[in-house]
Amino acid sequence: MYFIANWKMNPSSLGEAKRLVEQIKSQTKKIKERKEAKIIICPPVAFFSSIARKNSSLAFGFQDISWEERGAYTGDISVLMARDLGAEYCIIGHGERRKYHQETNEICNKKIELCLKNNIIPIYCIGENKKEKSAGKTGAVIKNQLNVGLRGINFVNIKNIIIAYEPLWAISSQKGAQAENPNNVLEVSILIRKILYDSYDRKAARSIPIVYGGSVNYRNASEFIKNDGLNGFLIGANSLSPFNFSSIISRSLNIKNVSEYQRYPQ
Ligand code: PGA
Repeated sequence: MYFIANWKMNPSSLGEAKRLVEQIKSQTKKIKERKEAKIIICPPVAFFSSIARKNSSLAFGFQDISWEERGAYTGDISVLMARDLGAEYCIIGHGERRKYHQETNEICNKKIELCLKNNIIPIYCIGENKKEKSAGKTGAVIKNQLNVGLRGINFVNIKNIIIAYEPLWAISSQKGAQAENPNNVLEVSILIRKILYDSYDRKAARSIPIVYGGSVNYRNASEFIKNDGLNGFLIGANSLSPFNFSSIISRSLNIKNVSEYQRYPQ
């Protein structure tokens, strides 16, 4: 199971970031079933090299990269820099990037290709906005995001991707946000696997991890994990609280019927 912490533009100092990562390490060390989980921390780039350590009990990722590998792009960070700093993962196409930076599926596609070329696992975020949800367009939106975002990704590389289903309206920073119903998330995860099956094969459809994001907390986490379709979570606000974050992990792993398929492959 994957537990991905998206710190977004937090915290505001390096000292706090260092404390946070140490607290997360010590809280998660206590979790008995820890080996079944992969815990990935995505801090702001400014703090990355000061807190990301190889051979740590945690893995580290970026929250975004440029769609170009190098060049004159003021303020941007390249995939080569991410790789040089030791990032193993990178969030691509997060709803906030789509909303505030007008990122399209085509841009996501370029970023995913760059990650795969540079041995970084992309965590590709897909999900509908409120208007699309109300209009009953969730399925069509997801299909388009997958078809365009994964265009040109071959059979070998597709196995190195994580899909994050994260409806924009469910992200806790959005007005009136609340988590999506676990049954609806299950339905969407089935749809995602069907689309992957149609474009690739049964193995890809079954083995690609799908995580859910959007107002996940330690009270609702286990409800999602009871469904076999999910392989973990992308967690925003609650990843900034070591107690809440580790409680989400321990409660998810404590579900008695967590199947072989949901476990992180060692
Ligand atoms: P949230 O954020 O857990 O605060 O809803 C999730 C995300 O945006 O990745």
